[in-house]
Amino acid sequence: MCGIVGYVGQEAACPILLEGLSRLEYRGYDSAGVAVCAGAGEGLSVHKAKGRLQVLSELLQGGAAVQGEVGIGHTRWATHGAPSDVNSHPQVSQSRRIAVVHNGIIENYVELRAFLMEKGVPFVSETDTEVVAQLIEYFYAGDLLAAVDQALHRIRGTYALGILCADCPDQLVAVRKDNPLILGWGEGCNFIASDVTAILRHTREVSYMNDGDIAVLSWEGIQCYNHLMQPIAKERVHVDWEVDAAEKGGYPHFMFKEILEQPQALRRCISPRVRDGAVYFEDFCLSPEEIRAVQKIYIVACGSSYHVGMVGKYQLEKLTRVPVEVALASEFRYMEPIVDEHTLVLIISQSGETLDSMAALREARKRGAKILSIVNVVGSSIARESDQVLYTWAGPEIAVATTKGYSTQLVLVLLLAVYLGRTLDRVSEEESRALLEELVRLPDKMEAVLAGRDHIQYLASQSFHHSSIFFLGRNLDYAMGLEGSLKLKEISYIHSEAYASGELKHGTISLIEEGTLVVAVGTYGPLFEKAMSNIIEVKARGANVLALTTESHVDRMAAVASAVIPIPDTHDLLLPSLGIVPLQLFAYYVALMRGCDIDKPRNLAKSVTVE
Ligand code: F6R
Repeated sequence: MCGIVGYVGQEAACPILLEGLSRLEYRGYDSAGVAVCAGAGEGLSVHKAKGRLQVLSELLQGGAAVQGEVGIGHTRWATHGAPSDVNSHPQVSQSRRIAVVHNGIIENYVELRAFLMEKGVPFVSETDTEVVAQLIEYFYAGDLLAAVDQALHRIRGTYALGILCADCPDQLVAVRKDNPLILGWGEGCNFIASDVTAILRHTREVSYMNDGDIAVLSWEGIQCYNHLMQPIAKERVHVDWEVDAAEKGGYPHFMFKEILEQPQALRRCISPRVRDGAVYFEDFCLSPEEIRAVQKIYIVACGSSYHVGMVGKYQLEKLTRVPVEVALASEFRYMEPIVDEHTLVLIISQSGETLDSMAALREARKRGAKILSIVNVVGSSIARESDQVLYTWAGPEIAVATTKGYSTQLVLVLLLAVYLGRTLDRVSEEESRALLEELVRLPDKMEAVLAGRDHIQYLASQSFHHSSIFFLGRNLDYAMGLEGSLKLKEISYIHSEAYASGELKHGTISLIEEGTLVVAVGTYGPLFEKAMSNIIEVKARGANVLALTTESHVDRMAAVASAVIPIPDTHDLLLPSLGIVPLQLFAYYVALMRGCDIDKPRNLAKSVTVE
């Protein structure tokens, strides 16, 4: 949730830290801070400010106000202690000799705090992180690494840590457990970061830290140790993401840019995997015999990725006839899931770092399942712990509300469904070829939907004053409505719910009154008549209905709905991929008209690395 960046080199650290933090702000944005080693015998220079990074940046004149070539920076999403200057990171020890930035939660901080207070250590913040700085200082007797190691033996919880000590002004120590942290190898400088986008301007050579790894960075190199403090060599990976991909490039918001990038992202995701009417996955982890032995597929994910799972259930069951269950990752590990070696568990995660999804993965593995994951961020924790990872190749997604992450996940699930369906012989070659041909046309059709965005903007201008909006749909349209509703509520703060249309009469219809805005998703051909009936029902109770449907159904829909949003006709299983685009745009324009902070909605963060 929080963002960490660290630099050790020969240039002024502070401007580099602030620039890195600006790329991590999507991870947390309630306060920010930096600590820089001012030089031998000079102590640490620590600066923190509540609010957006901009506040800190102005305070430090873009970094020019702080001298020193080694430093750590942090952008916070508060867990323990409200956003405030004092609760911001870096947290320092009582003598201000040790400074720490932290992402994660120290579970036994109350106990540790009591222990330290008994020894006379005063605390100033409400954070769990302050105990880390104080504990390291408590154990410090001239050897920073030994003190860190001793502190780690006392700490329980999850953490990525960047640690500075005034006595070692040319060193930075980094530690990781259950929270992302990467090492960046530069020329005459080295880095730590929560996410590669923070250091992409300086290096593309990175190493992924594993749980328990400790790294000591100087400008000359990086030495890594495992949890037993034995030296280890880290593999270096070259990252080929474009720097521009993580910048707004003239667009008003990352979300808008990422919505428009979807056709291109889809092409990158689809084209290397579809050849001659068939799907190819390199080194697929399951042999045809193993695929035939699968008795159940469990899709586990959070938020929008879970909504992909809801669509995926229909797609996978239709094409494989294998039963599919979809579970929220936060529930999965506490429900004693019925999972064994005949279960294929599919974890879907854009970031690859969502703590609940990671915990679900480990729970499923413990129960003997094979783990397949759909992930965007290369080298992320979920990717590395899966038997097989299918990368979405959407490029960096910066806006907190996912768009291109969702769309690419969706097509990858479809590709997986075709692949498994063909292997199981539940889909004919002809059927698969026709579906894949249409899939290849999808990015062009998506471009056509995007080209019609002025109409959506107009509809948003008629709708943004509503305080509650309902989304209705059946089957695939219901699954799509769930995502449309989440997009709207998370960025516009309008209360919104998605219902399976058939459930209306079982309670929800009592909420429909004169003027209620209903977004009716009616794209799925086989259930179109039923979608129409439900629209007529809510209209009869005074609802104002915006209907999403395919071009071939526009006329009939226009006869009952207040306004219609058309999408091109396509294969039934691909409808959610086209239908979601107007819903994303609708949410975007509504939020824009309400003056919301679209890329950084309140209380949210991009990568949810706490439970
Ligand atoms: C909503 C959104 C979230 C994420 C969820 C899971 O727009 O982005 O609901 O989908 O936090 O994140 P990942 O996919 O990174 O595991």
